[in-house]
Amino acid sequence: MRNLKHYLAIAVLIALVSVLTYLGMVNANLFPVEASAQAVDIDWLFNLQIKLIAFFFALIVVPIAYSMAVFRRETGDTSDSEPIESNTPLEIAWTILPLILVVWLGYIGADNLAKINAADPGALEINVVAFQWKWRFDYPQGFSSDTLYLPVDQQVLLKMTSPDVLHSFWVPEFRVKQDVVPGRVTDYRITPNRLGDYKVRCAELCGTSHAYMEAPVKIVSRAEYDQWIADQTAIAQANAAASAANPDAGRGQKLYESLGCKACHSTDGSGGIGPTWKGLYGSAVALSDGTSVSADDAYLKSSILEPGAQTVASYTAGAMPASFSNLTDGQIADLIEFMKSLK
Ligand code: CUA
Repeated sequence: MRNLKHYLAIAVLIALVSVLTYLGMVNANLFPVEASAQAVDIDWLFNLQIKLIAFFFALIVVPIAYSMAVFRRETGDTSDSEPIESNTPLEIAWTILPLILVVWLGYIGADNLAKINAADPGALEINVVAFQWKWRFDYPQGFSSDTLYLPVDQQVLLKMTSPDVLHSFWVPEFRVKQDVVPGRVTDYRITPNRLGDYKVRCAELCGTSHAYMEAPVKIVSRAEYDQWIADQTAIAQANAAASAANPDAGRGQKLYESLGCKACHSTDGSGGIGPTWKGLYGSAVALSDGTSVSADDAYLKSSILEPGAQTVASYTAGAMPASFSNLTDGQIADLIEFMKSLK
């Protein structure tokens, strides 16, 4: 069989080019470090796909390049090549084999997804609010932070929502990415397993400052995490006591910015997703059910804590997230003091 040496040469070249392509792609450092248990499974799947990509690249490119180099038309040869009819065994093979491959990839993909989503009933739950253009992390102890502190080797469940537009929670080192959708709570599960400083960035175009919508993520030891929680809780309690005794418009303004009220409520009378705060305090507010209420302390407080109870006429019911129900009386007093200052 005179073609045997060509088949052998092509087979050897395919093996060689596959290995070299794979090594080249793996050593190109396509991924940042792995900082979650889920990243290990995801990278395993990526690695498998890189192997397949390298093999199929070689399988296609090597025969083309080999044919171009070895079977070149000789000068002066104007004859046609032999006509090709069909090759039934080959056609059956290239239909069945990719089918098996794709079904197998679908199976291991689903299996991998189940592993990544595996829920630990003892997961630490933190509420995340993404808004134009900041991240806010509400801890179960009743305080908010603009840095996401996580203890190492414990699964965390982020309950994420947005008061304005679509955002997306993405820490490349965790690998998993999840959209944050207005009017809905999306889950994000991760088990951080590597100490260090990382960054969450928004991965969904959400307006002018989308590119700057980042927040620090700190993975710390259990002891350091417990200490941080204790410190933050003490600070929040001290602030709450001070605010309740003596509400302050300046502190209220800081909350207005850091909590994300700013995303929907203007302070200059201009329109927004929610009513402006300018001149709001003490005014008569028309509700969607046709009645009217006075915007006094009690009304403003209940609007923050239970935004679904009453809707202001001509605004969308449910636009205000329920995620402000953990504000302390002191924080609410500061916010109302700030509203009073906006005449
Ligand atoms: Cu938020 Cu992009």
